Amino acid sequence: MTDTAPHLATEENITALAVERWASTHDPRLREIMTALVRHLHDFTREVGLTEDEWMAAVRWLTRTGQLSDDKREEFILASDVLGLSMLVVEMNHRTDPEATPATVLGPFHIDGSPMLGFGGDMSDGLPGTPLFVTGSVTSLDGSPVGGAVLDVWQADEDGTYEAQLPEVDEARLRARYTTRADGSYCVRTIAPKGYSIPMDGPVGDLVARTGISHFRPAHVHFLITVDGHRPLITHLFREGAEYLDRDVVFGTKQDLVVAFEEHGPGPTPDGGRSGLPWLEARYDFVLQPA
Ligand code: BEZ
Ligand code: FE
Repeated sequence: MTDTAPHLATEENITALAVERWASTHDPRLREIMTALVRHLHDFTREVGLTEDEWMAAVRWLTRTGQLSDDKREEFILASDVLGLSMLVVEMNHRTDPEATPATVLGPFHIDGSPMLGFGGDMSDGLPGTPLFVTGSVTSLDGSPVGGAVLDVWQADEDGTYEAQLPEVDEARLRARYTTRADGSYCVRTIAPKGYSIPMDGPVGDLVARTGISHFRPAHVHFLITVDGHRPLITHLFREGAEYLDRDVVFGTKQDLVVAFEEHGPGPTPDGGRSGLPWLEARYDFVLQPA
């Protein structure tokens, strides 16, 4: 009997053969990624001694995850989020100056084209909740004010639901864009966010439910800040004292992004108006990195 020809696969040589084959990838960066992926996948498979049933279960899980992903629901992004992969990619690609506002995950619920509102415009548009003013400025790393920066803001409602999860809603709900004034100041009017569960009715939820992992995110408001001459900033502000700050299911919480929501009685508000109800104010100065 002769030895197996070197180009035919055995358990011992299949990794080397597959890496060699994928090393023919034309683009050098894609080649680097694909050959490393093959090596790590094979190492993982050997390490856990993957059975055929387990492999098939994984294939079915990936299929369901893909089938549930569309422009309104990003189940694959959610999978990446709960595995800590999204946040690792953010951390590696946004090694910000310690003085700059840190970045965090985008999440699956951002919608393009939110309406533009003026200083203090109300993005909650009468939805139930405690009025919240988010106020402060946008500056550059050197402290100079950044006028004309666009703050794209979005959040969940009192029940932890985002507009993208409500197919019957066809107008902007709890999202808006604000432009900083020449002195860098901004004022967002909304309602206090609450902590919420990530969607648990899909394959990601099925898997998380088989663990001791908390499936909640702490109360937060999302921001995407863009302006010429500076790097875009994707971040959140979290409510100080909120539940789940220490166990955010998507690893997105950072101490520098946790802010006090100061309580005020009825009276004058930062937009120049008055509130007949008690209201909250979160003050935060965003610091952008030059491009
Ligand atoms: C969010 O904050 O909207 C979010 C982020 C990651 C997964 C689910 C939700
Ligand atoms: Fe969120």
